[in-house]
Amino acid sequence: MASSRIVYLNGEFVPFDQARVPVMDRGFLFADGIYEVSAVIDGRLVDNAAHLARLDRSLSEIGIRNPHAAAEWEGLQTELVARNGVTEGLVYMQVTRGVAERDFAFPARGTPPTVVMFTQAKTVLANPLAETGAKIVTVEDLRWKRRDIKSVALLAQVLAKQAAAEAGVAEAWMVEDGAVTEGSSSTAFIATRDGRLVTRPLSTALLPGITRAAVLQLADEASLRVEERLFSVAEAHAAAEAFYTSASAFVMPVIAIDGRTIGEGRPGPLTRRLRDLYIGMARAA
Ligand code: PDD
Repeated sequence: MASSRIVYLNGEFVPFDQARVPVMDRGFLFADGIYEVSAVIDGRLVDNAAHLARLDRSLSEIGIRNPHAAAEWEGLQTELVARNGVTEGLVYMQVTRGVAERDFAFPARGTPPTVVMFTQAKTVLANPLAETGAKIVTVEDLRWKRRDIKSVALLAQVLAKQAAAEAGVAEAWMVEDGAVTEGSSSTAFIATRDGRLVTRPLSTALLPGITRAAVLQLADEASLRVEERLFSVAEAHAAAEAFYTSASAFVMPVIAIDGRTIGEGRPGPLTRRLRDLYIGMARAA
């Protein structure tokens, strides 16, 4: 990482190696915090208002006061992107319940939340994996019951992604009661042999993906048939196409699940179309 890298910490833009968070930060001790990730392409934030709305909701669900209005957040993000010269990549934001002596219940009212932001330069558009398609595996979903909250408690996702890495693949889809919930850091979609798009309906069992919502909107505008319902691992193995969506992957084709080839073993036409539509939307916004 460049020595000139700048992060945002509690009201200040500071050099990366001078940014310090105390040991008693509740994010560190309890994973008592929320995060968000927005993509940057052409130097601009993608679908950012929706990410900031989800950040606000996640914070409110666990009783942390949102330290900034959306316009303030966006101003800080934009400045951070500019200071780091990021034209393509990500902005990461995290808010924790702040610093206090270790005790499980909330600290005294008025304890300021800890706010951290950093950027990551990354190839999002011309990602070679999007050309070849990704292989994935399925793993058991080990998470808690409020997966609609974008909590920084990501141990189950860390273990899922490590299982994928050890299998030599890009992503793991998590499975509960035989049905796919979502990817370790993405939303799961399949396309049936008769051209219907299938993704799990929103509930507390999964994160309401911002890219998911945009893709469903684009699919609707393109008059594609969409079913929001549970789908099994067996159905995914037999799908005509599969893909996953996230702020960092956009629409990522899946060409194998658990070593079984999906469709023709290359990105399918529906997936490629949705990726193009999504990129078009992201660039035009
Ligand atoms: N992850 N599901 C989970 C569990 C996720 O962690 C993510 C995103 C998504 C996709 O959501 P969105 O389309 O809003 O990015 C679904 C981010 C990118 C991350 O943790 O880095």
